Amino acid sequence: MPKILIRNLNNTLIDVPPSNDSILKIIHDHQIDWMFACGAKGRCTTCRLVVHEGLAHFGELKEPEQKFSELGRLKENERLACQNTLNGDIEVSVAEANKFPHLTYTE
Ligand code: FES
Repeated sequence: MPKILIRNLNNTLIDVPPSNDSILKIIHDHQIDWMFACGAKGRCTTCRLVVHEGLAHFGELKEPEQKFSELGRLKENERLACQNTLNGDIEVSVAEANKFPHLTYTE
């Protein structure tokens, strides 16, 4: 089963069966707070994942990601959690700008 490891949330590990759910939905389904200011419509970048391992599992940039990349608002190692499904093991972090004040991050 593909896994999501969230490094700066105390190495939280999510182990899920393959599905067509977005990575954002999977994270939320595991009761983890993760920003999604536009409601998962690909119109902001607050759901961004900083990807440490498994970038190849994301495939090509999705259309909103392409747009934000061209605008310099999404780095090469960042992907939108609301626009991608989980196709293999990934290790990610919450971006500095998208951390919640009520959570304790480990990096
Ligand atoms: S929640 Fe806005 S782009 Fe993903």
